[in-house]
Amino acid sequence: MTTPLRVAIAGLGTVGAGVIRLIDANGELIARRAGRPIEVVAVSARDRAKDRGVDIGRFAWVDDPVGLGRHEGADVVVELIGGSDGPALALARTSVSAGKSFVTANKAMIAHHGLELARAAEDADVALKFEAAVAGGVPVIKGLREGAAANEIARVYGILTGTCNYILTRMQAEGATFQDVLADAQRLGYAESDPSLDVDGHDAAHKTGILASLAHGFWVNPRHIPTEGIRQVTPLDLKFAAQLGYSIRLLGIVKKEGRGPVQVSVYPALIPQGHVMASVSGVFNAVYVRGDVVGDTLYYGRGAGAEATASAVLGDLADAALDLKHDSTERVQAFVPHERNGALQPPGGASHSYYLRLDVVDRPGVLARIATLLARGRIGISSVIQPEGHEGASVPLILMIHHAPEAAMARAMQAIGRLAAVRSRPVMMRVEPLT
Ligand SMILES: NC(=O)c1ccc[n+]([C@@H]2O[C@H](COP(=O)([O-])OP(=O)(O)OC[C@H]3O[C@@H](n4cnc5c(N)ncnc54)[C@H](OP(=O)(O)O)[C@@H]3O)[C@@H](O)[C@H]2O)c1
Repeated sequence: MTTPLRVAIAGLGTVGAGVIRLIDANGELIARRAGRPIEVVAVSARDRAKDRGVDIGRFAWVDDPVGLGRHEGADVVVELIGGSDGPALALARTSVSAGKSFVTANKAMIAHHGLELARAAEDADVALKFEAAVAGGVPVIKGLREGAAANEIARVYGILTGTCNYILTRMQAEGATFQDVLADAQRLGYAESDPSLDVDGHDAAHKTGILASLAHGFWVNPRHIPTEGIRQVTPLDLKFAAQLGYSIRLLGIVKKEGRGPVQVSVYPALIPQGHVMASVSGVFNAVYVRGDVVGDTLYYGRGAGAEATASAVLGDLADAALDLKHDSTERVQAFVPHERNGALQPPGGASHSYYLRLDVVDRPGVLARIATLLARGRIGISSVIQPEGHEGASVPLILMIHHAPEAAMARAMQAIGRLAAVRSRPVMMRVEPLT
C-alpha cells in the first residue's frame, strides 16, 4: 500500500470526534477503497483537556486552528468548527493558499464564500470538498455534480433540515403545537437552544443555495434566496392539508424552465400525500432531483449526527486520497462553479397555487368579499372548506387558490388582512405538486 494521506482536523465536536472514531473503526476498509490509508496527524479545537470520547493524545495538538492550515505534515485539512466566517474561513484561506486540499462540513461558509474558495482552490491547484455540508451523510453533492453531469437540472426539491422535518411530522401525527414539539426537540438534542437558524429556514437556504450553485454553475448568494420558516404552521393547517390530500414539509426549491431564470427559494409547502417526499419523516433528509436525461432521482438518508456526517467527510477524504494518488485535482475542480453571475428569478416573480387559512367572523357575505378581492388580482378559488360554526363567532376558512403570481397573491393577502371580518393574520402556503 502507498504512503498514507495525512490529515489535519480542526474542530473536535460532534462531527470531528465522529471522524476520528470512524477512521479508527473502518480505517482498513477505507484504505482498501481509497488506495492508501488515511492518517490523522494533527488536531485543533478550543479546549485541549476536554474529554471527547476518543484518544487525541496520539495526534499533534495545535493551539491555533488557523495554524493547522500550514501544518507541514498534512496533505489535507478538514474544517469542522462551523460558522460562516471567523476561524473556519481563516483556516480555509490559509490551507488553500498553503497548497493543501480542503474538506469541510460547513454549509454556512460554503454558501457565503464558495465562490472565493473555489477560485482560490483552482489557483492553488488543490481540491475543495464539502459533501457533508448538504444533507449530512447523503451523497447528494457527488450525485449532483458528477453522477448527473450529463443532465440539465430542471428541479431540485430538498427536505434539508432534520429539525424542521421532525417538528412538522410530530405536529402532524400528534396534533401538537410548534412550540411544544420544538421544546421536546430541544430536550432530545434535535434542535439547538437557539433554533432560529433551523426553524426560520436559514440553514435550509444555505444548503439550497449550494445545491442551486452546483446544479446551474453559478454561486447563489444565500441573501438573495427568499426564505420562510415553519413558525406559522399550526396543527390546524396540518389537519386541513391532510383533509385535502397533502402533507406539509419545509422545502428547499430550485426550479428552471427551459432557458428561463433559476428560481431558488425555501418555504413550507403542501405536497401531495402520495408523493415519495411526503413519506420522509422525522429527522431524515431527502433531495429529489430531476435531470432532463435521467428523469427523477431521489437521495435519502440521515442529514445529521456524528456517524452520518463523518461518513460524508470520509467519502471526501477517500476522494482526496485518490486525487493525490493520480496527482490530479482537476476532476473535482471541474464540477465546482467558478462564476458569480447567473439569472436568478427575482422575488415575487414565480407562480404557484396556494393554501390560504383565514380566521373569519361567521356571517353572510364574508366569503363573497374575500372572493371579490381575489378576483381583482385575477386570482381564482379552486375549493373552499369552512367547518360549521355559530353565526357571529370566529371560524377557520380554508381556500385553495388556483395558480397565480406571488406578487398578485401578496397584494390580495394584504387587502384581505385589512377586512374587519378577518380576525388574525392570514396564513398562506404554496402548494408544490412536485411535478
Ligand atoms: N452536527 C451535525 O450533525 C452536522 C451535520 C452536518 C454538518 N455539520 C457541520 O459540521 C461543523 C461542525 O459541527 P459540530 O456539530 O461538530 O459542531 P460542535 O459539536 O459545536 O463542534 C465544534 C468544534 O469546533 C471547535 N471550535 C469552536 N470554535 C473554535 C475556535 N474559535 N477555535 C478552535 N476551535 C473551535 C470546538 O472546540 P471545543 O470542543 O474545544 O469547544 C468543537 O470541537 C459545522 O459547520 C456544522 O454545520 C454538522
